[in-house]
Amino acid sequence: MISFADEIQQGIPTVLPAAKAWDPAVNHAPKRKEILSPEEKKLALRNALRYFPKAQHAELAPEFAQELSTYGRIYMYRFMPEHPIYARPISEYPGKSQQARAIMLMIQNNLDHRVAQHPHELITYGGNGAVFQNWVQYRLVMKYLSEMTDEQTLVMYSGHPLGLFPSHTNAPRVVVTNGMVIPNYSKPDDWERFNALGVSQYGQMTAGSYMYIGPQGIVHGTTITVLNALRRIAKNREDIKGKIFVTAGLGGMSGAQPKAGNIAGVISITAEVNPKAVHTRHSQGWVDEVYDNLEALCERVKKAQAVHEVVSLAYLGNVVDIWERFDAEGIHIDLGSDQTSLHNPWAGGYYPAGLSFNQANDLMAADPEKFKEFVQDSLRRHAAAVNKHTAKGTYFFDYGNAFLLEASRAGADVMATNHIDFKYPSYVQDILGPMCFDFGFGPFRWVCASGDPKDLEKTDAIACAVLEEMMKNSPEEIQQQMADNIQWIKGAQQNKLVVGSQARILYADAEGRMLIAAAFNEAIARGEIGPVILGRDHHDVSGTDSPYRETSNIYDGSRFTADMAIQNVIGDSFRGATWVSIHNGGGVGWGEVINGGFGMLLDGSTQAQRNLTSMLHWDVNNGIARRNWARNENATFAIKRAMEAEPLLKVTLPNLVDDQLLEDLF
Ligand SMILES: NC(=O)c1ccc[n+]([C@@H]2O[C@H](COP(=O)([O-])OP(=O)(O)OC[C@H]3O[C@@H](n4cnc5c(N)ncnc54)[C@H](O)[C@@H]3O)[C@@H](O)[C@H]2O)c1
Repeated sequence: MISFADEIQQGIPTVLPAAKAWDPAVNHAPKRKEILSPEEKKLALRNALRYFPKAQHAELAPEFAQELSTYGRIYMYRFMPEHPIYARPISEYPGKSQQARAIMLMIQNNLDHRVAQHPHELITYGGNGAVFQNWVQYRLVMKYLSEMTDEQTLVMYSGHPLGLFPSHTNAPRVVVTNGMVIPNYSKPDDWERFNALGVSQYGQMTAGSYMYIGPQGIVHGTTITVLNALRRIAKNREDIKGKIFVTAGLGGMSGAQPKAGNIAGVISITAEVNPKAVHTRHSQGWVDEVYDNLEALCERVKKAQAVHEVVSLAYLGNVVDIWERFDAEGIHIDLGSDQTSLHNPWAGGYYPAGLSFNQANDLMAADPEKFKEFVQDSLRRHAAAVNKHTAKGTYFFDYGNAFLLEASRAGADVMATNHIDFKYPSYVQDILGPMCFDFGFGPFRWVCASGDPKDLEKTDAIACAVLEEMMKNSPEEIQQQMADNIQWIKGAQQNKLVVGSQARILYADAEGRMLIAAAFNEAIARGEIGPVILGRDHHDVSGTDSPYRETSNIYDGSRFTADMAIQNVIGDSFRGATWVSIHNGGGVGWGEVINGGFGMLLDGSTQAQRNLTSMLHWDVNNGIARRNWARNENATFAIKRAMEAEPLLKVTLPNLVDDQLLEDLF
């Protein structure tokens, strides 16, 4: 059997490997929509075959044609490697560049069977968040990374490695673009077509940028959101007791909601129509109890409410039924949201009320138009039931899943009186935006490249010590965020959230990120820990322009622009990032968002110290400066602090107009 290192260095094997059987034990991506014309199908095959010498075409062409008609895509399953894919210690990767080896580690983590949603289709999360389009791209990229030097940069076009280009030591080793298209060609069907042709892919956020860290990121983000949402309706922890949180979805990201509800200390009720998803989260201990009967559920909720129990309940059924039944029963919902996958409403992201799970699955394939009518009808019912509760005092927020957007498109009663805004805020408008992003707090993360859990423990302790020291002098405005994150990092080891690489996430502001990273770099230089890879979720202060999510609390009319995300990735790339990425789509759908991220290897060197200071400072303050220019008060506070700390930073500040002055002008 070929060794791991040899198989990596081999790239595309010269002798064709045997065809592989489709493995039913693995969670596979659904069959994609048939969208190509016969001529376009030929083009897709021509595109796929260009990776191989002519002599192999006769054997591969019918196989790829078969994949295209069976799965809607050409994954080149035959070329799946022999080696198991998981994040190995960095020393086990072959190569001349330590930075390139760090990237190999991160790529393998994104495709690890324990981490990835559809590993054989190279999908990490979100149903379509791809690392590569096919297995030959994986093989080629790993080969390039194993042979490149620190004087080269690998250029990635939507999973396809364009090649290695000469650059310089402090340039990024890899530059990734995913799904970038001419804006007029950014409709969902355009993605289907380009992806089927093999010329573009949906990178989601951390899938196509090799920065996914498993469920930990989601648990942390959801806890921060639920906790801060509760702070809007309850003054202190005492007030939180007995509060009821109703939501939907126990899937990839949404499955963290009951766990977050328990950490925050409420009674959570999460509806989920898919029995498999309910079983997964229940067996993992992420949700405490399961009900498939509304009467029993209502009784259980009343009992929990009477004694202020902290408990998470799953309802196997449609969320619309809960909203309607709780209204009829007079059960008061304190906090409400929804995390069905409405970024993908017509292909299984949202199951309409009135149809069973199986009926819905059948209808969406047999009669897509009819299915669409059911979805839109259900959304109107869903919103009407939510409206009844909010009239009684429920605090409802959109969880960045395009619920309000799709409900409005369905004609549901969700528009504000000005007919422009929605009735309800998004979680970023009310919670993450003003409370976190505007101050610079966002999902900073790191991976210990040695793969040693002891390194993670040491970095946790280092990060905690840095935050505690910072908190002593932090202004009142950010004390709460500091305290939340200190509490999180203290409980991190105990919560055992590591799946795959030895990774950690916490929300930190620019100063926190720079100080923590510098402390890591010093510990590496002293030989106390191995190298550390820094990164973040794209769902952050500066990385993402998304008008209904990350930048939904931008009110100067610029939320449909994407200058911030583009500037961010350009700025990161010349300030020392080890790799950078920029994507169309991610979270809310193709064409709806531009988002970018970075990875940075800390090796204990003085160059790493210079890079981390320069790049992290920009990576956060870019977004704060823009949020400040949009007149976000907390961002102006934060950027003024940043300017006091760094004399080279000079940001344009907005002047506020007295609205009275404008009153009679138009
Ligand atoms: N958690 C986060 O941090 C976060 C942040 C921003 C946005 N989101 C958004 O949340 C959505 C969910 O993400 P995911 O990864 O969990 O997706 P997912 O598809 O894995 O899970 C959604 C679940 O909702 C269930 N569902 C659909 N319709 C339902 C209905 N009517 N009643 C009950 N259950 C229903 C589905 O069966 C599915 O299991 C996405 O649109 C995502 O972009 C999540």
